[in-house]
Amino acid sequence: MSNDLIYFDHSATTPMHPEAIAAYAEAASQGPSNPSSLHAAGRAARGRIIAARDKLAAILRCDPAELVFTGGGTESDNAALYGAARAQRARDPKRTRIVTTAVEHHAVLHACEKLEEDGFELYVLPVDNAGRVSVDDADKAIGETTAVVSVMAANNEVGTLQPVGAIGRIARERGAVMHVDAVQAFGYETLDLREMPVDLLSLSAHKVNGPQGVGALFIRKGAPFEATQRGGSQERGRRAGTENVAGIAAFVRAAELAAEEREERRAHVRAMREALLDGLAEQLGADAFAVNGAEEESMRVPHILNVSFLGLSNETMLMNLDLAGVAASAGSACTAGSLQPSHVLTAMGLAEERCRSAIRFSFGLGNNIAEAEKTAKIIATIAKRLRNR
Ligand SMILES: Cc1ncc(COP(=O)(O)O)c(C=O)c1O
Repeated sequence: MSNDLIYFDHSATTPMHPEAIAAYAEAASQGPSNPSSLHAAGRAARGRIIAARDKLAAILRCDPAELVFTGGGTESDNAALYGAARAQRARDPKRTRIVTTAVEHHAVLHACEKLEEDGFELYVLPVDNAGRVSVDDADKAIGETTAVVSVMAANNEVGTLQPVGAIGRIARERGAVMHVDAVQAFGYETLDLREMPVDLLSLSAHKVNGPQGVGALFIRKGAPFEATQRGGSQERGRRAGTENVAGIAAFVRAAELAAEEREERRAHVRAMREALLDGLAEQLGADAFAVNGAEEESMRVPHILNVSFLGLSNETMLMNLDLAGVAASAGSACTAGSLQPSHVLTAMGLAEERCRSAIRFSFGLGNNIAEAEKTAKIIATIAKRLRNR
């Protein structure tokens, strides 16, 4: 990455922490070692996975046996949904309803749609204009036939936190399995699995300064779960395939640092977000942009800022930002070169014009206030140029 690049796209992926890289290199340089092999090298690799699992379990306050290492957030979400839905229906054929929200990541939404094709009934909860689902709506939707409820902890486009505790209590009371996609919340929010009424929880390493292609799925002891990935008996038969030993070591080192530094990191990204917002107000005037998602800090993660620059297409803005050395994102799926309006902003009931002008800035390690101030100036220059055209 060029030193001049201003990287405000940490919700897409984060730079690996040097200590995570060191943990990766240390584990990867041990010579060939398959953790399933019985010889000394294999046992050493197995030992690394056991140590990593123990550390992650300590951070999340769960039993190490409840954690399965996966190939990332998408795999964790898919394994959770297919695994719980199929196990629930096998136990009780009446349980065929899947309840989720309109603002989930596609890793959840598309897995739910696949379950619908396989005979499950899908119920998608709406959200308010801050992107938040209502506990009342969830209460009405979850019943005796519900197999799985899947609600994300924090949204990846606007950062809004969901009432997963209240919904989880309702789900579990009614015999449904509660799944939480905590990919964007992990690192910034406290996830205490002793307290959380949750059966399954998905994590991804590369959102917390770990490597890409590694993640974890928490499966509470006794929760209905059927493995979808079949093969060897790794991960107690819940996820077949040779483990990514170095990736797991690096993930857990990154997770440890995120847990230790949580408060400093929250303060750091908060300052960045505020500096960009203040800069935009100063440079553009407060009427020229609108913040999307929950405004109060208790209702959102601190590292995401989604803003619509009214009257300016996000595609053009992103291209111009890129040319000026600022990496941000539209938080939208890019199909055949054109940005589709985001399903999250659309579900929030925002006007098409506001959806089409929305940019997500997401902050993290390595960013500084000067970058936020510079970005506000760059945006003002771009906006002036585009408006004068
Ligand atoms: C909320 C959420 N869930 C799941 C994922 C998928 O994670 P991964 O990229 O590790 O597959 C992401 C990544 O963007 C995400 O933000």
